[in-house]
Amino acid sequence: AYVVLENCIKCKYMDCVEVCPVDCFYEGENMLVIHPDECIDCGVCEPECPAEAIKPDTEQGIEQWIQLNAEMAQSWPNITVKREAAPDAKAFDGRPGKFKEFFS
Ligand code: SF4
Ligand code: F3S
Repeated sequence: AYVVLENCIKCKYMDCVEVCPVDCFYEGENMLVIHPDECIDCGVCEPECPAEAIKPDTEQGIEQWIQLNAEMAQSWPNITVKREAAPDAKAFDGRPGKFKEFFS
C-alpha cells in the first residue's frame, strides 16, 4: 500500500483524493491517511501530492507512518472530494517537527 507521511500535516493539499480510483483516503483535522487494505498500489497519488508526502510502504524508515495510516484509517472519515487547501499550507511545507506539534 501507499502511505501518507509527516509532511502532509498542516499542508493537506488534498490533490491525492481526486485521483485515487478506490477512494481510500481518510481525513483527520490536519492530515490524511491511506487505508492499507483498500489501496490497490496504483501509485497515481504519489506524484500528485505537492508536498511529496506520499510514498510506497517499501520505503525505508517509515514504519511509524505505516502504523499510523493503518490505525487512523479505521476511525477517521472517508474523504473523496478535494477542498481548498489551508492558506498557510505553503508555509508548513517541509517544516520539521510537525508530527509532535500538529498531529490530529
Ligand atoms: Fe489510491 Fe492508488 Fe494512491 Fe493507493 S496508490 S492511495 S489506490 S491513488
Ligand atoms: Fe496530504 Fe499531499 Fe494529499 S499534502 S492531503 S497527501 S495531496
